[in-house]
Amino acid sequence: MTHEGSFVTRNQYDAIILGGGAAGLMCAAVAGQRGRRVLLLDHASEVGKKILISGGGRCNFTNIHTAPDRYLSANPHFAKSALGRYTAQDFLALVERHRIAWHEKTLGQLFCDGSARQIVAMLLDECAAGQVEIRTGRSIGAIDHADGRYRVDDGSAPALVIATGGPSIPKMGATGFAYDLARRFGLKVVEPRPALVPLTLPPDQALFRELSGVSTDVIARAGKTGFREAALFTHRGLSGPAILQISSYWRHGEPIAIDFLPDHDAHWLTGAKRARPRTTLRKLLGEALPDRLAERLTEQFGLPGELANLPDRKLHEAEQRLSGWPFLPNGTEGFAKAEVTIGGISTAELSSQTMAARKVPGLYAIGEAVDVTGWLGGYNFQWAWASGWAAGQML
Ligand code: FDA
Repeated sequence: MTHEGSFVTRNQYDAIILGGGAAGLMCAAVAGQRGRRVLLLDHASEVGKKILISGGGRCNFTNIHTAPDRYLSANPHFAKSALGRYTAQDFLALVERHRIAWHEKTLGQLFCDGSARQIVAMLLDECAAGQVEIRTGRSIGAIDHADGRYRVDDGSAPALVIATGGPSIPKMGATGFAYDLARRFGLKVVEPRPALVPLTLPPDQALFRELSGVSTDVIARAGKTGFREAALFTHRGLSGPAILQISSYWRHGEPIAIDFLPDHDAHWLTGAKRARPRTTLRKLLGEALPDRLAERLTEQFGLPGELANLPDRKLHEAEQRLSGWPFLPNGTEGFAKAEVTIGGISTAELSSQTMAARKVPGLYAIGEAVDVTGWLGGYNFQWAWASGWAAGQML
């Protein structure tokens, strides 16, 4: 009896957090430091594995331009509350308190000068300050919910936080566990799909596959959305930041358009014909683009010889094609290569203030598991910190 009594006390918590990634660690630290007894469980051998590999090992931990319109969700307003209450500046202040040196790379992206491991160490320090109990290598078995408590093998609590992320990069231990669990509790899940992912091209566009390794600054567009960054040709299709960004907006069966000459105006070729009539299209493209790409594109136009001998109409067609080259991807490289997952636990099921499930008392969902997906560049971690912080205030 005595033994059983102490077991029960020992295994009772105020909150159990499933998943020790960016969101789970932040949530645990915040709740722990508010005096809550927190248990965090992860099936991986160590916490924060995606943080460790992020940003090429330097972790692009936030973006100073964070704003709700840089996130995709069935409800574009959902992220406003959490992002507004825990900002990129708040996370930066934490980083500075831990004396982690950082720098801005481009487009507001903040990275560690040293290693992503510093961010994981910082989060572990913060968890330790809140006396969070962290158990790794724990596969989460049955979850029982009765009498206002959630029970797992390791203990029970009145609050359960789903922070197990999305299924992108399964070889790192990513799973669709969050969705299965949410469905079990009657929460809807917006169909997940890979995002921030390379696009594949069909064999009839194989000409571009021969350019594998060539990278150039472009504007990639899908519908009304466009990103100006580098695109990279790969042996399977297209990658690079501009393509990863547009992949989140691309839908199967739809084209994307690439502006290969984002700094050139609409009449640059006809203008060049007047200014430099003896030059050739090949030479002009070679001045603006990587040589192999210039060669391939010129072949496509079949406009040999001096510009002076080419009709304006043909040059105008070439200008238009170069500023909106159509590609019809036949797919993506899938969850195996996707940096994040679009879709997830429906925001309609959650309070945007607290991340608590509306219909299931004590259940919360945070981070990538939720249907909120950021652009490339530190936005996804900022969502993980902000949503983790919001739930951490409530536990
Ligand atoms: P996250 O995936 O981090 O954590 C989930 C945790 O749950 C993991 O520890 C996992 O082991 C655990 N788990 C999963 N299933 C489980 C189960 N069944 N049982 C128990 N535990 C389970 N973003 C950004 O802003 N800047 C960047 O630089 C990068 N770089 C980057 C590079 C690469 C290669 C990838 C794949 C992703 C990025 N990202 C990124 C995205 C970023 O990593 C991602 O958005 C966050 O890690 C999401 O945080 P979460 O805590 O929600 O999930």
